Amino acid sequence: MTHPAKFPATGMPESDWWKVLWPDPENVLRRLGIDFGVSVLDLCCGDGHFTVPLTHIVGGMGRVMAVDLDPAMLEKAKTRAAKAGVTNGAIRWIECDACSLQDTLPSAPDYVLIANTFHGCPDKQQLAREVFNALKPGGKLAIVNWHHRPKEDTTVGGEPRGPETELRMTPEAVMDEVLPVGFILHGVVELPPYHYGIMFDKPKVS
Ligand SMILES: C[S@@+](CC[C@H](N)C(=O)[O-])C[C@H]1O[C@@H](n2cnc3c(N)ncnc32)[C@H](O)[C@@H]1O
Repeated sequence: MTHPAKFPATGMPESDWWKVLWPDPENVLRRLGIDFGVSVLDLCCGDGHFTVPLTHIVGGMGRVMAVDLDPAMLEKAKTRAAKAGVTNGAIRWIECDACSLQDTLPSAPDYVLIANTFHGCPDKQQLAREVFNALKPGGKLAIVNWHHRPKEDTTVGGEPRGPETELRMTPEAVMDEVLPVGFILHGVVELPPYHYGIMFDKPKVS
């Protein structure tokens, strides 16, 4: 899809190797501290690889919203959810630009997940600010990124995968973009073989 607001280098990977790289998305989400009863926004959800497992974790007391700019991705994600037996209406699908969330979300989430997309956003601080404003006070942001390693070293199925080396970010580079908008660093977890997750808190009182 071509759209002026689409972040460069953020096309959805082919599902054959994505499934090999992320065989247990539910475990990844738990490692990021997502828990029962939480209201989560999967921002830039793609084909729903992480969205559907979110529903299993948050359960009936939680809430899942999923945003993507690309209607074809949202259709794929909806099909995946239906095949997985997710109840109709359990996920609120929203087609919009991640940098223009204001007035588009039905409610403020407790948690925002941005997986495999932050590296491509041209104005990362603006995106972080948009998320900060969308979150409830005391809410959390988690960014899942490829490690800052040469692309030729991150092979899956014998092929180099992921964004070009120069687009990859260290956790410190992410902090440089996210902390100035008011977030507080919560922690960093390793997500082997090639990723890390970095978590931030929005203060309860700002
Ligand atoms: C690499 S995929 C990652 C999908 C998913 N988060 C995952 O990790 O499996 C990036 C997704 O971001 C979406 N995207 C790119 N720019 C966007 C924007 N400005 N607003 C909302 N979604 C966007 C793309 O359409 C694509 O589906």
